[in-house]
Amino acid sequence: PADNKPAGDLTSEILQALSKAEPVLSAETFPHLPFESVKAALDRLASRSMVTYEQVEREEATLEPEAEVIVSHGSHEARVFEAVRKALDGLSIQDLEKEIGDKTVTKVGQGKAFKEKWIKKDANKLVALVDSINDVTRDQLRVIQETRTHDAKIIADLKKRKLLKMQKIISFKIQKGPKFALEMVKEETDLTVEMLASGSWKTATFKPYNFKALGADQRAGALHPLNKVRQEFRQIFFEMGFTEMPTSRFVESGFWNFDALFVPQQHPARDLQDTFYIADPKVADRPGPESPDDKRDYNEYFENVKQVHENGKYGSIGYRYPWSEDESRKLVLRTHTTAISGSMLYKLASESRNGRSPPARYFSIDRVFRNESVDATHLCEFHQVEGVIADYGLTLGGLMEFMTIFFGKMGVTDLKFKPAYNPYTEPSMEIFSFHKGLNKLIEIGNSGVFRPEMLEAMGLPSDLRVYGFGLSLERPTMIKYGISNIRELLGHQVNLTFIEKNPAVRLDKD
Ligand code: PHE
Repeated sequence: PADNKPAGDLTSEILQALSKAEPVLSAETFPHLPFESVKAALDRLASRSMVTYEQVEREEATLEPEAEVIVSHGSHEARVFEAVRKALDGLSIQDLEKEIGDKTVTKVGQGKAFKEKWIKKDANKLVALVDSINDVTRDQLRVIQETRTHDAKIIADLKKRKLLKMQKIISFKIQKGPKFALEMVKEETDLTVEMLASGSWKTATFKPYNFKALGADQRAGALHPLNKVRQEFRQIFFEMGFTEMPTSRFVESGFWNFDALFVPQQHPARDLQDTFYIADPKVADRPGPESPDDKRDYNEYFENVKQVHENGKYGSIGYRYPWSEDESRKLVLRTHTTAISGSMLYKLASESRNGRSPPARYFSIDRVFRNESVDATHLCEFHQVEGVIADYGLTLGGLMEFMTIFFGKMGVTDLKFKPAYNPYTEPSMEIFSFHKGLNKLIEIGNSGVFRPEMLEAMGLPSDLRVYGFGLSLERPTMIKYGISNIRELLGHQVNLTFIEKNPAVRLDKD
């Protein structure tokens, strides 16, 4: 069909039509072509000044079904007249109705035929008064059927009689432009070596640049929203002087995940219901150096951890239970990235500047695993954003101030701190913020000052204070992208188009 013709053909059709008559009305000349393709072809021609065009609107009359019947059978009054005229000695009203076969037509037509003085009543019969009549209505409707228009008065009258309906027709009034020609000159898109060599570039017509053209959709990879938000967090950490911790170890020993952090071996977090344990291999070696450069005495540290748990040390009375080395060597999927913070702090203990461990700022953003039942807001794995600050003379107020600045960089203000409990920090604080969308306080993080039992066992100086804090990456991401079900963000139900099309995010631009 004409509709599927390429725009190239349409432009030459337009040029042909213009060469025969001017102006051309598109709705008349190309009544079946879609508006958009005509416009696209006109724009191409107009950009080369080959045509000019303007959009015009006009009203067209079309026949209602009743009018179609009149065109084919005559008006009601004409039909009544014809029936009466044919019956040479008149027709009773009953017979007329039978003849016409339609009550309304008979009634309306009779009335009008009387008024026109075409028929009269003689005794109880109808008789014709004239030999022939002009069926004006039918004639008018015929004209409209063909031309879709008529005198304004006639149109108005027929419209009132509900025989017509009006339709708005959008059309283009097309005229020749200053560069009108029957064919479109080929426009060059590139200046080629051949054109330069032959000199044909001098006379060639070049296609003007279209700076508004959108590039074709690229089949390219896309960053996951979690990655985008992660990138924003990394940037905040970097600008605050943090270095990134290595987080490649998803499998940790119970020692680093729990014992080193002073989590007692009976703690519910270590239950099978909360933690995934590795079945094969079940246990790790005792913690020890992983590279020849590591000259630290892990045995001493290991013993310290054991003593802190069993009897206490460094001013702590400990948990006073028989601590099991086997338990500490069980392999787990790390339940928090604090396992890494712990081992990084132990490494810091072996570093020395002016005879003592230097201040440090570490962060990590990576995956952790918890044996939780899956629902709209929980999966068994999620990402933790974790930070650690080690320095001398740190106070709890300093931690609160730091958290205020840190979250402020994401546009999260008015923090509330609530006393909380972690085995490895004292004091500990949950961090809340008022969420305007949800109209309530929501927990956005957990934090604290690491215990001396944990730090001094590593050999860190007793006057070094260490802040730690953690939050999930998923929660701010879901809030940012307006996702209420975590399964829309992670897992097999994720809509790839959403991942591909979602915008970049700026945490501080709310
Ligand atoms: N590990 C804690 C959690 O999983 C976060 C935290 C890190 C708290 C460091 C205090 C110190 O919620």
